[in-house]
Amino acid sequence: MKDFISIHDLSASEVKDILALAADLKEKQQNKIKHEYLWAKSMAMIFEKPSTRTRVSFEIGMWQLGGLAINLDQEAIGLGTRESIADVARTLSRFADAILIRTFAHEKVIELAKYASVPIINALSDQSHPCQALADIFTIIEKKGKDGLKGLKMAYIGDGNNVCHSLMFAAAKIGLNLVVATPKGYEPDEKITELALADGRKAGIEIDILNDPVVAAKDADVIYTDVWASMGQEKEKKKREKIFKSFQVNEQLVKLAKPDYIFMHCLPAHRGEEVSTGVIESQNSVVFDQAENRLHVQKAILVKLLGGENGQS
Ligand code: CP
Ligand code: NVA
Repeated sequence: MKDFISIHDLSASEVKDILALAADLKEKQQNKIKHEYLWAKSMAMIFEKPSTRTRVSFEIGMWQLGGLAINLDQEAIGLGTRESIADVARTLSRFADAILIRTFAHEKVIELAKYASVPIINALSDQSHPCQALADIFTIIEKKGKDGLKGLKMAYIGDGNNVCHSLMFAAAKIGLNLVVATPKGYEPDEKITELALADGRKAGIEIDILNDPVVAAKDADVIYTDVWASMGQEKEKKKREKIFKSFQVNEQLVKLAKPDYIFMHCLPAHRGEEVSTGVIESQNSVVFDQAENRLHVQKAILVKLLGGENGQS
């Protein structure tokens, strides 16, 4: 694995290896056992969109692994404006051992990877959010996977967006049934759906795409939602609020799920829009465990990408 751009690019066993390493790193971190697998390694981070969880968890994670992550001010670096993506990729590759990018067009991530000689990490594009989805699967396994994930049902209710795309790939790799419910016209991208369905068939699980939140929520073990207007879609916010209204995850909808279902959200959340306050603040909500797991899973991704597994511990 040279880069971490899409979960679709990973084999099922690579996914499992990352999750196993994440569990080990989580235990080490919680017990304050030194795990400086990436001593003296460094990462340059480019954020063209805002971030709390991704930026902080990668920066602190890299430090816990004995390395350094630096955040590049987008205005200063001017990716594609002050300097071409190809030149930024080749320059940063001379300084840093990895480059992380959060951006709009997915093509920018691909172009960076084409010219960089060090691993590229996709920290969210308009198309996907693989770091998020891998941490989410890790959380589902922690909460629900004692006897494996076979037979469990995850429902993603809302916009067929970047997070939804990565969850489809992640579910397929790990063998978790997934039902996606979106308003008509807001389904996940067709090409991504085709790829995820093919991955799912290989894993023997079902991914269904439909337009009914009630069918999706019925007997679900996991209910997941995300914002209705993603970063970059702010102008569509009002229009989307009307279209997505009946897709709100609220007390009435979650009554259809299994009594011990878990509620997930990648955050930031908009209470009263995609989720009611009652649901996100309920006993079933695991959103902050989910956020914490970003740290552990991303550290595992870094160690795998930078070959630090045989380093000092
Ligand atoms: N979930 C997530 O990626 O959060 P941030 O946008 O705060 O990084
Ligand atoms: N779909 C959201 C996820 C934020 C973590 C966005 O792209 O804004």
